Amino acid sequence: MSRKKIIAGNWKMNLSHSEAMQLIRDVRDWKSGFDGEVIVFPSFIYLTEAVALLKDSGVKVGAQNCSAKESGAFTGEVSAAMLSSIGVEYLIIGHSERRELFGETNEVLKEKLKVALRHPLKVVFCCGEPLDIRQAGTQEEYVSKQLEESLFALSDEDMLQVVIAYEPVWAIGSGLNATPEQAQQMHAFIRGKMAEQFGKAMALQTRILYGGSCKPDNAAALFRGADVDGGLIGGASLKANDFISIIQSV
Ligand code: PGA
Repeated sequence: MSRKKIIAGNWKMNLSHSEAMQLIRDVRDWKSGFDGEVIVFPSFIYLTEAVALLKDSGVKVGAQNCSAKESGAFTGEVSAAMLSSIGVEYLIIGHSERRELFGETNEVLKEKLKVALRHPLKVVFCCGEPLDIRQAGTQEEYVSKQLEESLFALSDEDMLQVVIAYEPVWAIGSGLNATPEQAQQMHAFIRGKMAEQFGKAMALQTRILYGGSCKPDNAAALFRGADVDGGLIGGASLKANDFISIIQSV
């Protein structure tokens, strides 16, 4: 089964307004034969303009976070309904920075998934183990629990709107990427878990991205794994040339 590849850029809390608009134009104006999906995840405050600039370009726009609540007195929060109403298509849920720095538990992430899918946004759901877990060799149990507690209650229909991103926490922003073998092994494991819960057909359709220090010089090797369907790129997505060369390496 051939799955459409995805290269997604998670810009995190980076770039001034003018830098962000330039990067959006650079990615948009770069024409290629890439028949997969390209998604950019700028800061909330640039999303409206990103949607307008990327209209009909084939490049999709996502948000990095949303509230677990539907609406109401939650000062400073941004709802899934708001994102959807301005034409945002994707949402990242479960990034390790949200889990670690903002205390988002599997339970909270499950609520965010529900609210996002209701609106309807497509979700890039991140999972991945910290270094001590990798060193103890229990990464599969750890990732299983993340999937079970946040994703496994979804209906088949909802699961079709979810892309999984495996991002080993020790590889994020560290310059220390997983080896292609480590990535492929975990991706195959995740696909196996999906098959157990949702059936083989769903597992074969689900896109599983790798994230964590993915760069132009290691992307091709990482993406060669049979179960690696593209990447969620942090640092290297902030430079148009690097991001484009990662897309080209798929
Ligand atoms: P990185 O980040 O590519 O800078 O390691 C990846 C991510 O956090 O999504």
